[in-house]
Amino acid sequence: MKNLKNLSLLDINSWLEDRLKIDDTISFIALNPDHNKDALGFKAWVNLAELHYCKLLIPKKISNSEIILTFKKLNQNNSFHTEVIQQKEEKYGVESKFFTINKNQEPTFLLAYKKALESVKIEEKKEVLNLGVNKADEFELIRELIGKESFNKINFKGIDHSKTALEYAKRRFPNKNVKFYEHDINTISQLNLPKADLIISIGTLQSPDINYKPFLMSLVQKHLTKNGALILGFPNSRWIDRELIYGAKAPNYNYSEMSLLFNDVIFAKKYLQQKRFRVTITGREYIFVTATKINN
Ligand SMILES: C[S@@+](CC[C@H](N)C(=O)[O-])C[C@H]1O[C@@H](n2cnc3c(N)ncnc32)[C@H](O)[C@@H]1O
Repeated sequence: MKNLKNLSLLDINSWLEDRLKIDDTISFIALNPDHNKDALGFKAWVNLAELHYCKLLIPKKISNSEIILTFKKLNQNNSFHTEVIQQKEEKYGVESKFFTINKNQEPTFLLAYKKALESVKIEEKKEVLNLGVNKADEFELIRELIGKESFNKINFKGIDHSKTALEYAKRRFPNKNVKFYEHDINTISQLNLPKADLIISIGTLQSPDINYKPFLMSLVQKHLTKNGALILGFPNSRWIDRELIYGAKAPNYNYSEMSLLFNDVIFAKKYLQQKRFRVTITGREYIFVTATKINN
């Protein structure tokens, strides 16, 4: 088995690149970072594995000086991003690969979303609207965070055009205070909903059938109360083989490119600041724009 302990990171990277062209799983010997301050740390190996679209399997200790590491290639075809589903409304439905993902189990998502909910003081809200609610994972986390009693005092409304995802969400939240609407977000006004004091939308506003900038402006003007808040989540990642891989994917690039993401995030920040919101940008694999009203 190859021993990489005397190689530089650049040489390790080249070796991995060559080997991964041939094998899907490769094992090698490296310095044990628990006992050698000059060794690459566990986080460095996790990052390197991710950058090569691999999973790092649990390391095996040979001795205090050496360990065996194994990189296993992710199946890049196992991804909802490349999945073809005829009915566009069901791209994220119960039968889709997307439905098997649980964002709430990803620390970089969970902690950033939790922070955003705390910043907007979720437990003080009366009327929460979620656009692109899907199976209502975002409501689930609110329930866990503030407890059932506080959760039941807030009205929650979720809109999505996936019939099957909403059926699932309804079974999950049979509560009277939670309502779901099978509707196109573009024509949200037709629903005549009360204005919300918190609008949440994660991974949805950049959808190809939504005209992001005018839509965001009309959302704020027509569907948010005067002192309402927003939490917008923008994916800076892709799901591959059920792993969350850092970096936004842009059309025409075969590597992560973030211009579109930054453009949309900065548009939201500038627009909301003009409308007298305090705006923060946080997160990592999901970027959160969190906006709360500045009161004089
Ligand atoms: C990428 S998923 C995100 C779902 C959920 N917010 C999450 O992060 O897990 C986008 C969701 O928006 C819905 N969606 C996209 N465009 C829509 C539209 N024009 N009208 C209604 N729902 C839409 C999809 O069906 C899907 O459930």
